[in-house]
Amino acid sequence: MPRNELQESSVLREIASLHARSLRDNGLSRCGTGFITCYYEAAAAHPSTILLTEMTDDDKLAGFILCSTDCRHLFSRVMRTTGFRAVRYPRGIVFALARALVSWLRGSPPVRYDVEVVFVAVEQNRLRSGVGRALLAKALEELRQRGKRGVFLRVAENNVAAIGFYESAGFEPVINWRGKRIMRREIKA
Ligand SMILES: CC(C)(COP(=O)(O)OP(=O)(O)OC[C@H]1O[C@@H](n2cnc3c(N)ncnc32)[C@H](O)[C@@H]1OP(=O)(O)O)[C@@H](O)C(=O)NCCC(=O)NCCS
Repeated sequence: MPRNELQESSVLREIASLHARSLRDNGLSRCGTGFITCYYEAAAAHPSTILLTEMTDDDKLAGFILCSTDCRHLFSRVMRTTGFRAVRYPRGIVFALARALVSWLRGSPPVRYDVEVVFVAVEQNRLRSGVGRALLAKALEELRQRGKRGVFLRVAENNVAAIGFYESAGFEPVINWRGKRIMRREIKA
């Protein structure tokens, strides 16, 4: 679905709901779906992000992927854009600020990079049917067209499914850091 249609559409609420259900270890998941919808609205509007969806035949969300070409600044940029709308979700703001504080205290990973697969998630009833693979292939193609030659990601070391998924897509481990595995793959020109 093209970026501008995504911005207008209720699909963003479905993305937020899937995020909260599938990415339970992620701090954003505790911010409530209203706040997460604001986050994705702002992310979808930002030129440094790629937000793609796969839909079912009856037009329900099957999965989504969010990539960034400026991931070190993504959260602060999104928070600035979200701004006033986020005020409606005080719980979200409190959790988001707490998350930002914890990240700051933990420091940056020892590997510096800008291009990242930030989140990818597939509906439970569509797992292992190629949805994740299709989303990742489209995102990598979009990154290639933007002139990017490599992409990183961070995944929890105990997320066996996601690690299997990324390995099958050619990602290789770079380093393990604070319970997360940082992985990378090349994007051929
Ligand atoms: C990771 C995730 C996106 C994979 O999506 P998916 O649509 O089920 O994956 P696909 O069907 O495209 O699988 C492609 C390949 O990845 C690998 N793979 C997928 N799930 C796997 C699992 N549970 N265990 C091991 N390998 C797996 C396989 O090699 C698979 O190919 P195959 O089915 O032909 O063997 C999905 O499991 C998910 O949404 N997990 C919860 C959210 C999450 O943890 N996201 C990642 C962190 S941001």
